[in-house]
Amino acid sequence: MTRERFQWILAGLIIGIAFAMVGITTSSSAETPKSGQDLVDYREKRLKAAGGAMQALAQYDGSDATIAATAAKTIDDVAGELLSMFPEGSGPGGAGITKTRAKPEIWSDWAGFEAKAKGFDDAAAVLTAAAAANDLAAIKAAAGDVGKACKACHEAYRGPEDH
Ligand code: HEC
Repeated sequence: MTRERFQWILAGLIIGIAFAMVGITTSSSAETPKSGQDLVDYREKRLKAAGGAMQALAQYDGSDATIAATAAKTIDDVAGELLSMFPEGSGPGGAGITKTRAKPEIWSDWAGFEAKAKGFDDAAAVLTAAAAANDLAAIKAAAGDVGKACKACHEAYRGPEDH
């Protein structure tokens, strides 16, 4: 192969990789809806995943540290994502939104909602540490505190089932 030909192949590869990377970033941002009913459905799906992880922890017997770590990571990821899933205008009456249990108080009392989200995030961090150590008693205690944080927010900011 001539040196020139090699350089052309190399340039082609670099351009190909650059396009592939652009493709990856656009497809992942397309997965997270920004508004409307899709966003509501997305955040409910993410919170359900956190609920599933809570169930896994409730049944956890200490025998497989990866179960605890995976569940803790799911919860911690959702905690980190929580505030961004509730942008202004994504409540009842928002553009394109037909069904949501989010109460308008989330946005009229954003500081209060943020405090609940922080309580959840802090509890998730304690859980992550307990799971990393696979300390069963600490995992159960931390999961209990996470559960209280879920409930505290729901009582204040989530409306009834058929809202
Ligand atoms: C900071 C507030 C907040 C925290 C913390 C929170 N949630 Fe929620 N959750 C909400 C709101 C608000 C909704 C309603 C979203 C909507 O319908 O648009 C919701 C919805 C849900 C749903 C969707 C199903 C339904 O019928 O509403 C599930 C499941 C859920 N949460 C579980 C959890 C679990 C489990 C945790 C803790 C691990 C948790 N949530 C923590 C505020 C919170």
